[in-house]
Amino acid sequence: MSDDLISAARAVRGNAHAPYSGFKVGAAVRSASGIHVGCNVENASFPEGICAEGGAITSMVAAGDKEILEVAIYAEADTPVAPCGGCRQKLAEFAGPGVKVVLASPKGIDAEMTVSELLPASFSLK
Ligand code: THU
Repeated sequence: MSDDLISAARAVRGNAHAPYSGFKVGAAVRSASGIHVGCNVENASFPEGICAEGGAITSMVAAGDKEILEVAIYAEADTPVAPCGGCRQKLAEFAGPGVKVVLASPKGIDAEMTVSELLPASFSLK
């Protein structure tokens, strides 16, 4: 994984809107056209919030791409911050099982996993 993807996730985390949880997350996905970023955007009506990963995926699709090549997620926590269940399924929609997902924090890279390790039995309509 190149550092640019982790740097992009770290930078966009600063834009997160997380006044309710106080927990800011940044995500970056790489596709053929480049890097696409997202941050969590919470809402006073709590279920309406969106996760960083969903924002990054939306940005990639809006840019015209549908294949994720690698993923970086950046947060500040004592233990590695892994994507929630819903975001794992969203990643699996656009990333093959072997795609690498790096979980990073100010300590550096906390964990490296693949999409299939995160979601071994993803739902598929195929
Ligand atoms: N969150 C993300 O954006 N991505 C993750 O991988 C974990 C959790 C957000 C959702 C919510 O805004 C806050 O972190 C606390 O759960």
